[in-house]
Amino acid sequence: MYDFLRRLPKAELHLHIEGSLEPELMFQLAERNAITLPYTSVEEVKAAYEFDDLQSFLDLYYQGMAVLRTAEDFHDLAMDYFRRAHAEGVVHVEISFDPQAHLARGIELNVQMEGLGRARRRAERELGVSSALIMSFLRDRPAEEALHVLEQAAPYWETLDAVGLDSAEYGHPPSKFREVFARAKALGIPRVAHAGEEGPAAYISEALDLLEVCRIDHGVRCLEDPVLVERLRQERIPLTVCPLSNVRLKVVEHIDDHPLPKLLEAGLLLTINSDDPAYFGGGVLDNYLACARAFDWSRQTFIQMARNALNVAFMEEDRRRALLKDLESIPLED
Ligand code: HPA
Ligand code: ZN
Repeated sequence: MYDFLRRLPKAELHLHIEGSLEPELMFQLAERNAITLPYTSVEEVKAAYEFDDLQSFLDLYYQGMAVLRTAEDFHDLAMDYFRRAHAEGVVHVEISFDPQAHLARGIELNVQMEGLGRARRRAERELGVSSALIMSFLRDRPAEEALHVLEQAAPYWETLDAVGLDSAEYGHPPSKFREVFARAKALGIPRVAHAGEEGPAAYISEALDLLEVCRIDHGVRCLEDPVLVERLRQERIPLTVCPLSNVRLKVVEHIDDHPLPKLLEAGLLLTINSDDPAYFGGGVLDNYLACARAFDWSRQTFIQMARNALNVAFMEEDRRRALLKDLESIPLED
């Protein structure tokens, strides 16, 4: 199964680039920028990655990204990720980034955009990995701040494939960001949002109704509302599911209890993604492999997951056609 899953042309639709910061690079960047880390070794960092919930992860996630200061840092971060993803058979990545988390540390938007943009062009040229860019708003910060960042991003509106919504979910419903997302819609920018990860199924409905998102990040708690499940199925709303993330953040107790088989049985449009690969135990391939071990899925099922991701990715139609053709040419037998 490993070789088969490795060969599948996989698209990663749910990836926080700041969450791809491996401890080794964290140390390198800390040294380069003369920043003192609260750790003395890579092992110590890894030992700290024991999370009780989303917030306990976010605390370390925001702390870790403080080593990113220059455009070169953002470039190195993204290239490091692109190389690993490429080695896993990833052909397309939709990179989410959190501009507010960097602005709050005095790192200007143009620094972030320049570094990420350079890495994206280089990955396309040197690795043949295409990418999209999703500017995510932090839902635990004021909506006015998000709106301000969206306006500040005017020189980059053309480069944004979507805006998103992430960070601490509970108590920060999508409705809080109605105006921000209406503005993005008026600008012609597609919209996605995390919903139903830790938060209730009602947040998924809100994201669809009030933010008019075209897909839901996570969405696993939709199963608590059968009417919503039927809507997601009928409207073919993609869910970007991240099984290893859900285990590490204790959304589910064990991978064997993950709702993916139930979501599949419900006929939903599912994709498998890594979320924050440096923090949650691996990239897209590791997430596919975890599913293979836990659910005993057929090769056809994995092909369907990979096909779903290619079908709903923000991608040029010619490239989509070519990648779908590659996917369909993978033999089902050894
Ligand atoms: N959930 C919400 N916000 C995030 C995550 C996540 O898994 N990763 C980075 N920001
Ligand atoms: Zn996420």
